[in-house]
Amino acid sequence: MYTADLFAQERLGQRDAIGPCAWVLRGFALPYVDELLPALGRLEAASPFRHMVTPGGFTMSVALTNCGALGWASDRRGYRYTSTDPDNGQRWPAMPGVFARLAAEAAAAAGFMGFEPDACLVNRYAPGSRLSLHQDKDERDYDAPIVSVSLGMTATFLFGGHARSDKTAKIPLYHGDVAVWGGEDRLRYHGVLPLKGPSHPLMGEQRVNFTFRKAG
Ligand code: SIN
Ligand code: FE2
Repeated sequence: MYTADLFAQERLGQRDAIGPCAWVLRGFALPYVDELLPALGRLEAASPFRHMVTPGGFTMSVALTNCGALGWASDRRGYRYTSTDPDNGQRWPAMPGVFARLAAEAAAAAGFMGFEPDACLVNRYAPGSRLSLHQDKDERDYDAPIVSVSLGMTATFLFGGHARSDKTAKIPLYHGDVAVWGGEDRLRYHGVLPLKGPSHPLMGEQRVNFTFRKAG
């Protein structure tokens, strides 16, 4: 297992409640990293990261790709889940076994048993990349939680309420952390502040986030 800093070991196993049905499982993904990174390499070789355009016409600062039966996509016409990569017309790469296992085990550790995601959005942040406040509401039902894995540079995650204008908590997400939110917290607004800070010893000048969802 690779630990980026002296505090990573201390955080490991810590579980921070950020809502009634929302947790950050500190370091939960660390034991999986050695398997996640080669799987990510194969996935991005098939469906490379790209900057999508929002319905409003802005190019996202976050680059993304997907794996699983469904992938999240955006263009001038809107947000949607697709079974194929719009750039190459092929199916999104299959979800690697280690991704599905990590997602199910993190969900279970947060009390959501039997999580079987069919979509994994992979976001890549460079310094300055941000994600504005939004709700995850393009999925067919909201019974399943969201499981969000952080790798690389530390991000400041914003976790708000059910209205865009609600106050947001600022939560640092470190390499290996897994955030899980569901139940009454499933539709809470969230986002990520512009990425800054030291480069990560293993991942370099970037942060990669996997967001697992049951979309279809
Ligand atoms: C997302 O909301 O899609 C990603 C959140 C994150 O990068 O932590
Ligand atoms: Fe989201």
